[in-house]
Amino acid sequence: SSDADGFKEKTLAMIKPDGVEGKYVDAIKEIILDSGFSITQEIERQLDDSTVKSFYAEHASKSFFSNLVQYMTSGPVRIMVIEKENAIADWRALIGPTDAKKAKVTHPDSVRALCGLNSERNCVHGSDSPQSAAREISFFFQKSQSGDDLTFHIHISL
Ligand code: TYD
Ligand code: MG
Repeated sequence: SSDADGFKEKTLAMIKPDGVEGKYVDAIKEIILDSGFSITQEIERQLDDSTVKSFYAEHASKSFFSNLVQYMTSGPVRIMVIEKENAIADWRALIGPTDAKKAKVTHPDSVRALCGLNSERNCVHGSDSPQSAAREISFFFQKSQSGDDLTFHIHISL
């Protein structure tokens, strides 16, 4: 949906370790910009175990959780805040289904079809709701007084 008042929504986009390693960062950023998003924040970072476990806490009880943590810590990720009208749903649509193997068949133009392998290694992340977007953006970026997402939030493991 497109808001009459032009309200821009923000969502968290992440290129996972296989995407960074496979040199897909520039191609994915081009897709993002060509699709009408602006990139308001961007950082590349090696995530540690505790950061991934906390980011994906909703999946802690799943059988794939330890694989997910291993995958997400296997190399640097590129984390971005991207913005446009209807950003959350539009970015989810652009990345395609969780299972990249299925995406190659049903959504061949999606980002996961481009660079993902299967449901474990699917190359990119997108927030799935306004609540998730707010949580995930503030998980990695702190707000300045003007409301811009300026400062990177450091997670300290004790
Ligand atoms: P999920 O939130 O279900 O998918 P999405 O990333 O599309 O929102 O799952 C989070 C991540 O967990 C997913 O991107 C990759 C991993 N995962 C697996 O490794 N195996 C699975 O069977 C599923 C469903 C997810
Ligand atoms: Mg999800």
